[in-house]
Amino acid sequence: MTTYTFPENFLWGAAASGIQTEGVTNKANESIWDLWHRESPERFYKGIGSQVVTDTYNRYKEDVQLMKQVGFNSFRTSIQWSRLIKDFETGEVCPDAVEFYNNYLDEMIANGIEPMINLYHFDMPAQLQEKFGGFESKKVVELYVDYAVKAFKLFGRKVKYWITFNEPIVPTEGGYLYDFHYPCKKDGKLAVQVAYNTILAHAKAVHAFNQLSIEDSKIGVVLNLTPSYTRNDSEEDKQAAWYADLLFNRSFLDPMVKNEIPQELCDVLKEQNVLPETTAEEIEAITSAKIEFLGVNYYVPRRVKAREAEYDLDYFTPEVYFENYVNPNGRFNPYRDNNEILPTAVHDIAMNVKDNYGNVPWFLAEIGIAMDEVSEGKPDEDGYIDDTFRTDLMKEHLAQLHRAIEDGANCFGVHQWTFIDNWSWTNSFKRRYGFYRLDLETGNRIPKKHGIWFKELTATGTFVD
Ligand code: FCB
Repeated sequence: MTTYTFPENFLWGAAASGIQTEGVTNKANESIWDLWHRESPERFYKGIGSQVVTDTYNRYKEDVQLMKQVGFNSFRTSIQWSRLIKDFETGEVCPDAVEFYNNYLDEMIANGIEPMINLYHFDMPAQLQEKFGGFESKKVVELYVDYAVKAFKLFGRKVKYWITFNEPIVPTEGGYLYDFHYPCKKDGKLAVQVAYNTILAHAKAVHAFNQLSIEDSKIGVVLNLTPSYTRNDSEEDKQAAWYADLLFNRSFLDPMVKNEIPQELCDVLKEQNVLPETTAEEIEAITSAKIEFLGVNYYVPRRVKAREAEYDLDYFTPEVYFENYVNPNGRFNPYRDNNEILPTAVHDIAMNVKDNYGNVPWFLAEIGIAMDEVSEGKPDEDGYIDDTFRTDLMKEHLAQLHRAIEDGANCFGVHQWTFIDNWSWTNSFKRRYGFYRLDLETGNRIPKKHGIWFKELTATGTFVD
């Protein structure tokens, strides 16, 4: 038996996002998810779109009590751009949204829960996508910054942790390379422009935030940092992993955390003829936008090998330089499409941040153990769902985080994905991650046993395994 004790004042809680939880009550505008679901419901698991969600807009008070019951001292969600802003050109805000976000923030704060607020969780307003191509366009970069400034001014004093983007690479991959987000384009050059424009939007928002000097409030970003592991130690495989890391991790990490644009990245993009349009002034903005903390999302490792088959797409993707690979000796989660389980990756990520990114203060912003409703089973006689599988895996991951902290990682908290089972993009409600089950028919929140364990952990800062 080992006792794992975490630092004092550690942040414990969960992450979610506006669009995945709020529902559409009083929503000023559509996001691309509303639009895409309206046009192509068949792209969503069981045809369920983001209209059917946890209904936080109406149930936030009750939900904040549920947060307390599982011991959270902090919680991340996002403001929806398409809810807050009524008129994107004039910046006119929607009064219902201002009232809702104020109430929600006040409720959390009054109950001892530190809100961490993200500005963008994959949810481009539909109008801006249709009219300008979303982040394909620099006009939308400016509109995003206007929106961010509105949010900072409206809610700045209540929020100590602002986040510009969650996993900014994901809408780029999903929308422009691999067809799992709207606008479902497959265009490597456009993807790189969208990635660049997103980094620029982040940088400009950081500068705007810093100019406001909001007391006691910091700004950061949340990145999904998936290490790339190789099939073997061959030079070819190592090279493959180097490219994967450059294109998937360093592409965002280096500009956002180190304020550097890797020369190797420029060389690769040039070689592929996909360099984005940039200006000296933009590069200056990117390379001077200092963040104060980083959020890291981790679910599964990336496994790569050197390319064996010829690359047969007629547009650029990072896979030009490697092939994905399934580890024959891996452990897999039977409840999540056989995704590999590799808790030691948490330690690897932490050491990468420590050794290569100035040991910037960071928190584990999403770590989630997926199960499906069937494998989680029905509530027992006390009304709890038995998700011991989740707790066991969480212990393994947190043991690795603990080891990393002992090895000098500058980690200040853990947020599990997610609080109440929520709608998850095209997977809809296929996978369940919550501390509470959402009964889709009644909207009831049903506790899972994991929450009992978590409450003890957050109360004592300690767990034994
Ligand atoms: C992450 C997303 C989050 C959720 C989980 C399952 O990549 O940030 O919105 O869908 O995956």
